[in-house]
Amino acid sequence: MANRLVFATNNQHKTSEVRELLKPNYEVLNLTDIGCEYDIPETGETFAENAALKSAYVVENYHIDCFADDSGLEVEALNNEPGIYSARYSGKRGDAENLHFLLQKMGGMTNRRARFKTVISLIKDGQNYFFEGVIEGTLRTEPTGEKGFGYDPIFEPNGYNITFAEMEMGEKNQISHRALAMQKLITFLQQSV
Ligand code: IMP
Repeated sequence: MANRLVFATNNQHKTSEVRELLKPNYEVLNLTDIGCEYDIPETGETFAENAALKSAYVVENYHIDCFADDSGLEVEALNNEPGIYSARYSGKRGDAENLHFLLQKMGGMTNRRARFKTVISLIKDGQNYFFEGVIEGTLRTEPTGEKGFGYDPIFEPNGYNITFAEMEMGEKNQISHRALAMQKLITFLQQSV
C-alpha cells in the first residue's frame, strides 16, 4: 500500500506535479484534501523554521507525515532582505508593490547579487528532515517579462541573459530554487520507501 504524505499547500498545480513524481509509492494529499483550512502562522525567523511550523502543524493535528516549503529572495546588498518577508516586503501582499518597493530600496546600488532560496521540512516517522534549493543571480533595475510571479521580472539567473519572467515555465521549473529542493526531497523519499 502507498505511504500517505501531506504536502502543506493549497496549490493544486504544485500538488499534481509532486503527486506524479511520487507515484505509485506515495499517495500525496494537500491541505484541501485533508480539510485543513487553517492559515498556519509563519512566525519563524528562517525559511527552515517557517517550513517546519507548517509540517509540524499538520503532523500534530492530522497524524499524517507531511512536508512543507518556504521560499524567498535574499539580496546581498540588503543583508539578505527581504528573505522570509518576501511575500509582504512592502507591507502588502501584492507582487508588483513588493517588486517596486525592493527596486526603490536598492536605488543605485551596484552590488545586484541575489539568490532565491527554498527550504523544505519533511516530517517522516517522527523525524524532521530539511532540503534546500538555491539559485544565484543578479537583479535588474527594470522589470522585464510577463511570465512567472513575485520578483521574477527582475531576477536574472547566473548564466542566462533573460529574467525568470522571460523564461518558459518548463525551463524555470528545471533550474529554480523550488525545483532543486523538490528534487532532493523526491530522491530522499524514493530511497526510503
Ligand atoms: P513561498 O514561500 O513559495 O510562498 O514564497 C514567498 C514569496 O517569495 C513569494 O510571495 C514571492 O514574493 C517570493 N518568491 C518565492 N519563490 C519565487 C519565485 O520563484 N519567483 C519569484 N518570487 C518568488
